[in-house]
Amino acid sequence: MEVSNNMLSKIATNNGHGENSPYFDGWKAYDANPFHPQRNPEGVIQMGLAENQLSFDLIKEWIEANPSASICTPQGVSGFKHTAIFQDYHGLPAFRTAVANFMNRVRGNRVKFDPDRIVMSGGATGAHETLAFCLANPGEAFLVPTPYYPAFDRDLRWRTGVNLVPVVCESSNNFKITREALESAYTNAKLDNIKVKGLLVTNPSNPLGTFLDRETLKDVVRFINDKSIHLVCDEIYAGTVTDGDEFVSIAEVIEEEPECNRDLIHLVYSLSKDMGFPGFRVGIVYSYNDNVVSIARKMSSFGLVSTQTQHMLASMLSDNEFVENFISESRVRLAHRHDMFNRGLAQVGIGSLESKAGLFLWMDLRRFLKEPTFEAEMTFWRTIINDIKLNVSPGQSFHCSEPGWFRVCFANMDDETTIIALWRIKQFVRKNRNLEIKTRKQFWLNNLPLRSSSRRLDDILTPHRMSPHYDILTPHRMSPHSPLASPLVRAQH
Ligand SMILES: Cc1ncc(COP(=O)(O)O)c(C=O)c1O
Repeated sequence: MEVSNNMLSKIATNNGHGENSPYFDGWKAYDANPFHPQRNPEGVIQMGLAENQLSFDLIKEWIEANPSASICTPQGVSGFKHTAIFQDYHGLPAFRTAVANFMNRVRGNRVKFDPDRIVMSGGATGAHETLAFCLANPGEAFLVPTPYYPAFDRDLRWRTGVNLVPVVCESSNNFKITREALESAYTNAKLDNIKVKGLLVTNPSNPLGTFLDRETLKDVVRFINDKSIHLVCDEIYAGTVTDGDEFVSIAEVIEEEPECNRDLIHLVYSLSKDMGFPGFRVGIVYSYNDNVVSIARKMSSFGLVSTQTQHMLASMLSDNEFVENFISESRVRLAHRHDMFNRGLAQVGIGSLESKAGLFLWMDLRRFLKEPTFEAEMTFWRTIINDIKLNVSPGQSFHCSEPGWFRVCFANMDDETTIIALWRIKQFVRKNRNLEIKTRKQFWLNNLPLRSSSRRLDDILTPHRMSPHYDILTPHRMSPHSPLASPLVRAQH
């Protein structure tokens, strides 16, 4: 018997999940016609997935060398019973220590996280919701600089009833977060009678791939202290920064700002991006506020990390030699892929925001729009999906304030697929020369000062780093397509 929606709760039946958004059309197109180099070479290439799949050979090596880390091997089975019955929501002490160790190392050991403040959650997704529940009442709001990760609309709002208020950032200053933009969003919210409880920043940013400099972070800290509101820093991409020494964590900044009220500072982390383990659902709430730690821990009962996963990661992430090598090799590989993709785009005059982090580029395709509107952006996006057969994400899905920006992910595929994706873009641009409103030379001069290169596309695309480490898998094999997992759910990432 079918149950009508009015028999269910308002939360269950509202559209807080966002599944009905038109932005999922790209995912549907990919699912209906997925690229495979042999079986479906004309299919859609998935470039909408911020996954880090470039270093799985290192993980595999470690697993093979450490069979006792798993409770399902002859070497590790003696730990099976203890692991299977352990359900303390504090988590395995060894797991918390190992995660704190990993978080320190990702930040170059310049900070020291306290294992006793590590609270588990179901991915960063769960961590955001937990913090929203802890910090705000229904109807109260968080400021969020744009463009931002689309699923924040679901994660922070859906079940909590909390609101998000955009802080409009613009391309004219490379989407920097300024005090003026923060003040303006805060004032507008007040005028609308919305109580602002916090500011959420993603550092490094998804979708921009940029990270905040020390001064900006200090300004942000001063702003939230002046207003007495919370600061949530999502540092889920901290380990993707090309040069780790350049990244500044909020954990460092608060050490340098003695005036800062630490009770207002909270960090979200996860192993989904830096380790590339989104399926393990390892999310972390790290708060400097004792009450928040205690409440979040109680709430974590709704999203604990399985003890089996904790057990394995406790071994892996406390192996310092492995962790150091993994972090540095992963950075090198991401930087190489970033460079390869960026230079491939530059060959056909496509610029992107200068970035040194993330698993994506923020492409500037404004000159391809018939007019500077979001309708035109949507039309061009459909061309990218249907004609070029790439699933990229349009800027409006990230609440970008200017039409014409698109996020393209580059770390969820092998080198060969990357080459094919670039080839398709190149062919498209060549066929559509009339769409270009600037000469390539001008465009390079304007947008790509650090990236101009006289190398030919084919040189750039020569996979000279295609070592055995690259574990050349097809996108299909790398992203198993579970009929149970809705593409719409995955699309949130
Ligand atoms: C900025 C940001 N925060 C949170 C998440 C969710 O991560 P998780 O898979 O750990 O839930 C993502 C995933 O793409 C993200 O980009």
